[in-house]
Formats: sequence, structure tokens, C-alpha cells
Amino acid sequence: MCGIVGILGSKPVAPQIVDALKRLEYRGYDSAGVATLERGELERRRAPGKLKFLEEKLELEPLSGFAGIGHTRWATHGAPNERNAHPHATERVAVVHNGIIENFRELKEELLDFGVNFQSDTDTEVVAQMVNRELDAGKTPELAVAAVLARLRGAFALVFLFKGEDDLMIGARRGSPLAVGYGDGEMFFGSDAIALAPFTDQISYLNDGDCAIVTRRGVKVRDCDGSGVAVSRPVQRSLANAAMIDKGNYRHFMAKEIAEQPEVVGHTLAHHLDMANMRARVPDGIDFATLDRLAISACGTAFYAGLVARYWFEKFARMPVDIDIASEFRYREPPLKEGGLAIMISQSGETADTLATLRHCREQGMQIASVCNVPTSTIARDSDAVLPTLAGPEIGVASTKAFTCQLATLAALAVAAGRARKVLTAEDEFRLVNALIEVPRLMTETLKLEPQIERLAKTFAHSRDALYLGRGTSYPIALEGALKLKEISYIHAEGYAAGELKHGPIALIDEDVPVVVVAPFDQLFEKTVSNMQEVQARGGKVVLITDAEGAIVAGETFETLIVPTSYAFVSPLIYAIPMQLLAYHTAVFMGTDVDQPRNLAKSVTVE
Ligand code: F6R
Repeated sequence: MCGIVGILGSKPVAPQIVDALKRLEYRGYDSAGVATLERGELERRRAPGKLKFLEEKLELEPLSGFAGIGHTRWATHGAPNERNAHPHATERVAVVHNGIIENFRELKEELLDFGVNFQSDTDTEVVAQMVNRELDAGKTPELAVAAVLARLRGAFALVFLFKGEDDLMIGARRGSPLAVGYGDGEMFFGSDAIALAPFTDQISYLNDGDCAIVTRRGVKVRDCDGSGVAVSRPVQRSLANAAMIDKGNYRHFMAKEIAEQPEVVGHTLAHHLDMANMRARVPDGIDFATLDRLAISACGTAFYAGLVARYWFEKFARMPVDIDIASEFRYREPPLKEGGLAIMISQSGETADTLATLRHCREQGMQIASVCNVPTSTIARDSDAVLPTLAGPEIGVASTKAFTCQLATLAALAVAAGRARKVLTAEDEFRLVNALIEVPRLMTETLKLEPQIERLAKTFAHSRDALYLGRGTSYPIALEGALKLKEISYIHAEGYAAGELKHGPIALIDEDVPVVVVAPFDQLFEKTVSNMQEVQARGGKVVLITDAEGAIVAGETFETLIVPTSYAFVSPLIYAIPMQLLAYHTAVFMGTDVDQPRNLAKSVTVE
């Protein structure tokens, strides 16, 4: 979603702002802009589309101010064109914004009655116009912003720059992330530490309700939603560095992130397993023995990790799991038990739907654990226990390594729960931990399928639709395979439980629809292969993903991808890789924007 940068610098800041915006590109955007103070006056350059169009504009009409704000916009209110691109500005103030102002219509009506002329269709311009009105009325920038913040509803992060104020930026956060960076005689705002990585590693994260008044000498933070008193937010050394968001020798971040999986899953497992004693670690404060059920919630790919985990918790720990996508969880009004445990899964830790579910569960008196890739994120900070995934920054919009690291974390947790609840014996635990320890090696082997998958992708690229089938834990992997394909190649794809095929989707089968069957040679294999044969009998083109034994038993298919044999328990971590590679190479072959697919955002900070 939208990316925000602000710099009070010691040289012209527009090039630095564009540089920082490039590091925020991964969040997804459809227009971009910069505003600087030019001899005290606000000036803007904005352009729809990729940052290169903004750069071209800046080359033709450079900006030389030492104070500026910049933005990449993911459209919510109004089309992604130049007039709706941020910064939005009046004569006196410019603003960049991430999130949604929910009551913007009523505020806009009020301003229209007041005689204001709007230049855009956005909710953001309402904020600029309201601050402008307060400034016109004689308020200082700080008081003007405070007065407007008090009237805004919704989730947002905002950064303001003011006419004639070369040493001032004001930022505010309610819901959407915002960080302050400390330089040497320079100060920064950024949506995350990665944006600011080459400028500073000294970062403080604002809390919800904070308003930060930044000058080149430092920052004053106030709790603007509450008492208005000064608060202090600790300065932390950020571990983000610019190299983390380098593609290296890879053509796309997604390719790099797929290839990194053996390593990052290894790190994640090392964190959650006590390998010396072959045990899974239980996070402090969680007592599985006293819990009678679990609630899990997440969105998209992270939700599919949760679906796999349900099988593990129910089998190994005999714990019933309530799971739902975060955007629906609250509407079911599920009866939640006070003192129960809710697990949120999120790569970014900023997903608005997941955060809203977290808060709902908290209100019901539940304990919150999060499986999260960004330890400084809102979801991680709002949790009682954080189970980190150590995937490192994931830049490709389509989640890959974060997903398998989520699976690794949840697998270890389910084993730990099984032991705590005395469902698993020490030998069982040894066997399961041993299976997990082998995963990085098996992933490395699986990656060797890439040349075969690349050839297969050429067939896929000509399809209009594709189906993915699986049973048991392979069912969520089929769902994930279909999601990966549709989001980056734009081919329509659906995942189904293999047994459900005959209840409807089988009507779609013909020789033009490839059907990917995820079938490790486990106790469900025979049944899945029967469903596969139902597809073949109707002329369907089956791509079977299985292991060596499965390939022999299954017989002829359009294509069989043979992954290394693994324990059934860990097969989701292995079978995720061919799903990712197939989607990736299909998208590359079709020439889509693999790392930043259309309409998608990496960090979805609106509900
Ligand atoms: C798909 C994908 C999304 C995310 C979802 C949740 O490849 O990346 O479906 O999984 O938006 O995001 P996080 O995990 O950041 O909460």
C-alpha cells in the first residue's frame, strides 16, 4: 500500500526522496509524487504509473529544496491519475497519506459549504484543506494539525510540510505504520525502516495516536488521541540495510526469495526448535496444557499457512482450531473464550484486517500470539507473544519465503503443543523434529526442478483457466498454488479439495484447462489419484506433483514433477516450492510485472 517519505536534509532532497520511494515500491502503487519547499513555497511534481515517470518529470522540472515529502499511492478514493496522486496541497500545506479517512465525505461537505474548491477526488485532500483552514484562522502548524486529527476517523499515517517552514515536518499515525529516522543534522519520516536504510539506521516507531513534530534537531512526540502529553518512543537500531532489498543476480525479487527458502526456513527452524535436545520450543507465557481450543486468523497466503496448521494442531495436539480469514472473522461473532489463545499470522504485521481481528480477540479477553515477519510491526507489538519468522524482508508482492517460514514456525508450535498436552511422546516429538530438520535440504533438492517447471510454464502461459487439487494438508497448498498463479500471471485459477471436484468444478474440465494435482505418496494418495483419473477421463491435462513412489503408482500424466520423498508432516513446506516456481515462470513467460503485479499491494493497510 501507499509509501511515505519525508526528509529535512542538508542538500536537495528530491533525489533522496525518489531513492527512498524506490525502496517502498514493493508495497505496490500506481502513482507517485514529491513536494519540496522552494524558497519557502510548496512545489510539487506528480505522475501516474511507475516511478520512472516521476523521475522524468523531475528531470524536466527539477526541485532543489532541502525539505520535502514523497509518496507512492495505491488508489482507494479516485482513479490513479496525476490529479489524485500525492502530495495533496493547498497554498499553505502539503500532505502525504497512507490509509483511509472514513468520514471524509461529511468533512468534504463541510468544506464545500465553506467555499473550498477541490482539485482531486481523494480523501487526502480533505485533510490538506482542513489544515489549511486552521492555518488561515491563525493557528500554528502544530495546533492546526492537532485540531484536524481530532476530527478524523479511520486508519491512517500522515506527514505534513508547511509553506515558509523549512525546518518542520509533522507526522501522525493512527493504524498505518510510520517511523522517524534520525540522521546527522537531518531527520526523516518513512513508512518503514527499509525506506530509510541508506540514510540512517536509528529509527523510532510511532504508536497509534502519536503525533511527531520533527525539526533537524530532533523530534517531539505527543499522544494526540489522548491527553496530548509528550511521550517518548525509544530509538532502535534498525537491522534493515539497503543490500537486503537488492535483487543480486536474480531477475526478480520473487526468484531470489524462492531460492532463499532453504536458508531462511533453516534459520526459522533453528529459532523454534531446540535441536540439541530434539524438542520444539514453547514461547514464554503460552501454556497449551490449559487451553481447550485455538483461534487462528490471517489473510491470503498467510491464511493458507493457518489452514495447514489447523491439520497439525488437531492431529498432533488434539486441539480444535477455529480459523477464518481476518476480513470475516469478526462478522461471524464467534463465541471466543476469555483467556483463550488467538494466533494471528502476518508477513508484514500491518494488515488492517488481521489487526482488526487481533483487537477484536483482545477485547474478548483472549491472549494473542502472532506469527510475524516484521518484529517492529503493529501486529507484533500488539501481541502477548511473537513467534518470529526469520524470512528477512520480502519484497516481491507475491509471498513465497514468508509462507514457508510461517509453515515452519507453526509446525514447530504444533509439535510443542502436542508435547505440552501429552498427546505426543518424546519419541513422537523426536521423529517430528527430525522431519523438520530435514526440510532445508529437501527444499534445496526441490529447487532443482526449476528447469522442468520453466518448460512446463510455457504451456501454462497459453491457458485461460487452471485448477489445483489436493487433499489433507495438500488442499491449502493447492489453494496457495492457485493464488500464486492468478496474482502474478493473471490467469484465472482455482484451488479445490480433490474430493470436491465431482461436486461441481469437474464441469470445467476440458483439454484446455491444466489441472495441477498435489499428491505426496501418503495415506491420502490413492483417493487423490482417483480424482486425478476422473480429470484424465474427461481429457483434462494433469500436472501431477508427487514423489518418486507416487510417480510410479500414478502412471501416465501430461507432466509429472517429482519432488524428494519427505515425511507427510512436512510435505506442505516442500510442495509449496513447485507451486511458486510454476506461477513465477508462467508470469515471466507472459511478461507481467512479477514483483509488482497490477492492483496488488504488499502491505494491505486498509480494511
Ligand atoms: C499473496 C499475498 C497476500 C498476503 C496477504 C496477507 O501472495 O502475499 O495474500 O499473504 O495480503 O499479508 P500479510 O501476511 O502481510 O498479513
